[in-house]
Amino acid sequence: MKYQKELHTALTAARKGGRYVKANWGAASINNFKGSYKDYATKQDIQSNQIIVDIIKKSFPDDYILSEELCPGFEDHDRMWIVDPIDGTRNFAHGIPNFCVSIALWEGGKIRVGAVYAPCLNNELFHAVHGQGAFLNGKRLPRLRPRVALKSSIVATGFFYHNGKELTFSMKHFPLILNKATDMIRSGSAALDLCNVAAGRLGAYYESGIKPWDVAAGCLMITEQKGLYTDYAGNSLDIFRGRTNGFAIEILAAKNRRIHGEIVDILTS
Ligand code: IPD
Repeated sequence: MKYQKELHTALTAARKGGRYVKANWGAASINNFKGSYKDYATKQDIQSNQIIVDIIKKSFPDDYILSEELCPGFEDHDRMWIVDPIDGTRNFAHGIPNFCVSIALWEGGKIRVGAVYAPCLNNELFHAVHGQGAFLNGKRLPRLRPRVALKSSIVATGFFYHNGKELTFSMKHFPLILNKATDMIRSGSAALDLCNVAAGRLGAYYESGIKPWDVAAGCLMITEQKGLYTDYAGNSLDIFRGRTNGFAIEILAAKNRRIHGEIVDILTS
């Protein structure tokens, strides 16, 4: 089977990074701000990033590694790793267990391997390989229900980086979706939101202003589960959108076409 060495490397790196982060949970300290008081990396983000990069480099010394804290700039490579050493940094820093390590391999225009490890949430470890299915702690995820409607679903979103006009834009959709869904959550980890859609726990997840390392691994879980992810208008999503200027993705992922269509109608209204 293809990509087994890459999967093994992604899982090893996710576990090692995640164990380090868990061991330091409660001792988080801010390393640097990235332009706003909300946007920061902890020392543990940096260290986890280093642990993961070292493991990938050992097995694949020639691969480019795009990573949130050590190498966030886009370079055009046919093959690259995409790493978020702590997705949910603010949760981590505030003692909330909803955070994870997220690692993906991109090759030939597709996400081929994904691993998402939440060390403080029952050690949940999601993984997927393109064409080979999506798994949680080694067990294949259950099939998604194709006919469930928005009114019977919980939807997740996020608005972390938004201020001013952008905040108004994302807040505009919130009550409209809340009125139609069972409920809404803002979990603080896009990677876990996507995994939770793939696992059938959430009906959908949407957010704008997000980056490739937040979503790459989770997007593969979604497609392996026959869910779908697009931009807000329902068009295919370029996960490197805004590549020359720090990235700016808007993503809508849903567990079925019905929920997806209902939310596209709202997001484009
Ligand atoms: C953040 C999380 C959060 C989302 C933010 C992301 P980070 O990632 O995914 O859920 O709302 O937009 O930046 O910074 O914790 O890796």
